[in-house]
Amino acid sequence: MKILVTGAAGFIGMHSSLVLLGRGDEVVGLDNLNDYYDPQIKRDRLARLQAYKNFRFVEMDIADRPGIEKLFAEEKFDKVINLAAQAGVRYSIQNPHAYVDSNIVGFVNILEGCRHNKVKHLVYASSSSVYGGNEKMPFAEHDSVDHPVSLYAATKKANELMAHTYSHLYGLPTTGLRFFTVYGPWGRPDMALFLFTKAMLEGRPINVFNHGKMQRDFTYIDDIVEGVIRTLDRPAEPDAQFDPQAPNPGTSRAPYRVFNIGNQGPVELMAFIEAIENALGIKAEKNLLPLQPGDVPATYSDVSALTAWTGFAPGTPITEGVSRFVKWYREYFKA
Ligand SMILES: NC(=O)c1ccc[n+]([C@@H]2O[C@H](COP(=O)([O-])OP(=O)(O)OC[C@H]3O[C@@H](n4cnc5c(N)ncnc54)[C@H](O)[C@@H]3O)[C@@H](O)[C@H]2O)c1
Repeated sequence: MKILVTGAAGFIGMHSSLVLLGRGDEVVGLDNLNDYYDPQIKRDRLARLQAYKNFRFVEMDIADRPGIEKLFAEEKFDKVINLAAQAGVRYSIQNPHAYVDSNIVGFVNILEGCRHNKVKHLVYASSSSVYGGNEKMPFAEHDSVDHPVSLYAATKKANELMAHTYSHLYGLPTTGLRFFTVYGPWGRPDMALFLFTKAMLEGRPINVFNHGKMQRDFTYIDDIVEGVIRTLDRPAEPDAQFDPQAPNPGTSRAPYRVFNIGNQGPVELMAFIEAIENALGIKAEKNLLPLQPGDVPATYSDVSALTAWTGFAPGTPITEGVSRFVKWYREYFKA
């Protein structure tokens, strides 16, 4: 299989690419190496991928329409995994246009590339943030997701809607994956685990939002990758049970699916911090702060649809995942 992975120098992109390369797929990794966070870690992730003969890197922006058109026409990918996006909820308050450029304009370019070049399956990153202000727990794919509370979430929901139209109009099989707070080695420097670990090792206080009354369905990177690969290997199909009289938002008469990938259990932020404290052997000094605009107080995934489709359910306990992250962090930063 020849697979395009966009966002390959990113956290989830690197880990997904490593698994594909390890099993012998040909991977073309695309990334614009932007400086939303320190690009050095992106270059270091890339160096791991470049150790494989079946990997090639293309430095490009998915919003570059002629560039993406040419790449698809020349390469004729079998399948595409679109992970390139402007991520982060809080950053979308200050930088809305970055989200439109990468997540909307860029995503249309990917859809068009797939459509015109007979790509057999497009798997793309959505997000648990699409559940927005919902308080019905756990979050399931058949729930309404029409109340996003950040522009980031709105662009992810827009991706699902746009994907559906391409599945319907052109028969392009598309699978959207709603990732729930992903963490692990080589993780993102803008996310809590990384920020907390860094601050604690440097003897600085950590910023704890919503006064610690935050719950997240923290999902370990290997579980996310397992979900990405298993869904990639089973392209979305039209759902014979789909009833337009009572439409289920999670499936369709078109070859379209969306799946949650989460650890199936909300963890209190304070318990997460305790796991970091135990792994580091350092007690955190906490700065208790209010809930940030755009943030939601809790996430909790129902993954029964993913399990029914792939036979897989995430389950790495946070104590194990956090200690693997801390081990990596100490080695990488010699801290
Ligand atoms: N990490 C999480 O907890 C989480 C949760 C939900 C959804 N997601 C989604 O999963 C995907 C991967 O996330 P991640 O955590 O690996 O983030 P990341 O920022 O580490 O990876 C994204 C990569 O895409 C690249 N990129 C961004 N915009 C681009 C563009 N316009 N053209 C080309 N490359 C571009 C970046 O340089 C980066 O290397 C994203 O779509 C993100 O929104 C992540």
